[in-house]
Amino acid sequence: MEGKQVLLTGGTGGLGLGVTPAVIKRGAKVTIPYRSENAVERLKQKLSSSEFENIRFVNVDLTNENAISQLIEDMGRVDVLIHLVGGFSMGQLIDYNYEDWKKDFQLNLDTTFLVCKHSLRSMINHGYGRIVTVGSKGAVQPMGGLASYCASKAGVVALTHAIAEEVKDYDNITANCVLPSIIDTPTNREAMGSDQADQWVKPESLGEAICYLASEAAREVRGATLPVYGKL
Ligand SMILES: NC(=O)c1ccc[n+]([C@@H]2O[C@H](COP(=O)([O-])OP(=O)(O)OC[C@H]3O[C@@H](n4cnc5c(N)ncnc54)[C@H](OP(=O)(O)O)[C@@H]3O)[C@@H](O)[C@H]2O)c1
Repeated sequence: MEGKQVLLTGGTGGLGLGVTPAVIKRGAKVTIPYRSENAVERLKQKLSSSEFENIRFVNVDLTNENAISQLIEDMGRVDVLIHLVGGFSMGQLIDYNYEDWKKDFQLNLDTTFLVCKHSLRSMINHGYGRIVTVGSKGAVQPMGGLASYCASKAGVVALTHAIAEEVKDYDNITANCVLPSIIDTPTNREAMGSDQADQWVKPESLGEAICYLASEAAREVRGATLPVYGKL
């Protein structure tokens, strides 16, 4: 990824704490869209000052198509898109609020559609591209109480496969998806305690898997759905 222009969404989140350092260490030029200044400060603690100063942080809401289009235009080109943005809410279906359902789809599936659409245009124009999206174990093994999350992440997997099919005729443009189980993030430790944390997948391990899929070496890996489950 040396010298590649990388759009790394969600790079300041819990998973980003493992993925961003892995991408930076490979010599990429990284742009991270963010909203929360506190999350940027938290990421800063994980990086050397020179690594941190090399990241371009742009305040962008990734549910806003015009803002995404502008962001990508300002980048000049996108060689690699790593789309970590996503999230979940819980609830039994019969009590589940339609607004929350739409929010999960917007956060997981709509943002993936929008950033992939605009990044892919740039990739096709420049003849090179790597797209790595983030699904979830729940996308392929759905759980009760997480219907909207599992359904929207299944959509992310299907969308990634569809993109991989669409770009099959381009020599050097690929799209693949990773499926994390529970990630060992500060938020999960806060919510569930640390007793089972040794079973969870480390953000750094996902960083390595993602960086492989985003690398030049993975040019023949297309439409993969890679489980990265730790011990779960
Ligand atoms: N955590 C897990 O156990 C787990 C398990 C399976 C899959 N995953 C998936 O892994 C990915 C990362 O999860 P995570 O734990 O790192 O989540 P997280 O800590 O909540 O981080 C989410 C990131 O997305 C950004 N973001 C959210 N909405 C945005 C928007 N509208 N515009 C721009 N940025 C936005 C956040 O930035 P701001 O803070 O600035 O808003 C943050 O950097 C998600 O796709 C998640 O579904 C997570």
